[in-house]
Amino acid sequence: MSTDDNVLRPSSGQDVSVLLLNGPNLNLLGEREPGVYGSQSLKTIEERVIQLGVELGVSVSCAQSNSEGELVSLVHGARHGQGLIINPGAYAHYSYAIRDAIAAISIPCIEVHMSNVHARDEFRHTSVVSPVVDGFICGCGAFGYELALRALIQQLERPDA
Ligand code: DQA
Repeated sequence: MSTDDNVLRPSSGQDVSVLLLNGPNLNLLGEREPGVYGSQSLKTIEERVIQLGVELGVSVSCAQSNSEGELVSLVHGARHGQGLIINPGAYAHYSYAIRDAIAAISIPCIEVHMSNVHARDEFRHTSVVSPVVDGFICGCGAFGYELALRALIQQLERPDA
């Protein structure tokens, strides 16, 4: 990993970039169940992660979709040398299509849930996505996305990244 020009590059020489994906209903953050998900909008959260990326020399692009197929296509669009942060929302609990898409691209991936899914309804205790990701963060609110970015950078710094 080199840090010329204050931009991280894995051993492949490409710039490090991160794709932050949010799934269904997360576009409503700030107004949706604030007692569970807090009062920050998705835009505010994305801007914070982008800013942290600037501080850490990593470019972050963001997307959100309520549609399973679109999320699959967005995951496919991630390229080698990139990292993926994904909050699949409720799709985490049953979308084998999103799980298979993540398995197919083989880039470092961190799954984020803002709430502590294990302390909530039983159907939220299972994530079919978790077995194919490198890390899982839940219950840390919006800060979980910042933790995920830091964790991904560590993954991308591995010599085989
Ligand atoms: C969530 C948890 C999911 O169970 C839920 O369906 C969401 C948000 C979270 O960030 O805590 O939409 O992924």
